[in-house]
Amino acid sequence: MKILFIGDVVGSPGREMIDEFLPQLKQKHQPDLVIVNGENAASGRGITKKIYDQLLSAGADVITMGNHTWDNRDLFNFIDHANQLVRPINYPKATPGKGIRFIQAGSAEVAVVNALGRTFMNPVDDPFPLLKQAINEARRQTPFVFVDFHAEATSEKQAAGWYLDGKASAVVGTHTHVQTSDNRILPKGTAYLSDVGMTGPYDAILGMEKEAVLKRFTTALPARFEVPKDGRKILSACLIELDRKSGMAKSIDRILINEDHPFEV
Ligand SMILES: [Fe+2]
Ligand SMILES: [Fe+2]
Repeated sequence: MKILFIGDVVGSPGREMIDEFLPQLKQKHQPDLVIVNGENAASGRGITKKIYDQLLSAGADVITMGNHTWDNRDLFNFIDHANQLVRPINYPKATPGKGIRFIQAGSAEVAVVNALGRTFMNPVDDPFPLLKQAINEARRQTPFVFVDFHAEATSEKQAAGWYLDGKASAVVGTHTHVQTSDNRILPKGTAYLSDVGMTGPYDAILGMEKEAVLKRFTTALPARFEVPKDGRKILSACLIELDRKSGMAKSIDRILINEDHPFEV
């Protein structure tokens, strides 16, 4: 079972990278399932129905979200019918959407879970017991469980990795928009990566126009962050291979595509 996971798609540059490289990545690696984090897909803030459909028709099988889930109000119009969209599991009970989805991947099913960290982030429910409970239940149905842990602190992400070792097939971080180089398989078989990185503008600061971010840092004045329309772009992803029987990881490799790391066929 091969899973391709693409990190935070930021605005139209991120979607252009998906359109250009996802078909090539699928051709090269033949994944059984493609997961894309879409929390920044609509101009850096949330997702729309049109973009959700575009990402699926470009080759994604499931879209995960994060702290920007609700930034675009269009989501409220379609989340009840978006059965290939996973929002964080640790929102209050009354929140619309689902925090876990079972997605068909060839002849098998993969449980895809999204969770938010709480360190340096807005308050949400404790993700740890919710993840454990959801994964224990999911594993009665399938050995394949993928967790997108959307968090700021590497310590909280590592904690989630160790906490779920041997239970989740993979725990991969998102949110920081910078790919880390600590891909590994934990002792009980869980693939782990602190952050997969982002997909979108390359000559920018976390995908936003660097001038506005610099203004805020150098003057402490408010500045509205926008996604730059032109310029060089990056795609960040990882490829995970799982044992067909146990669901545990055999490998986890990082993928980075930009002008400094060109795509190789
Ligand atoms: Fe993000
Ligand atoms: Fe985020």
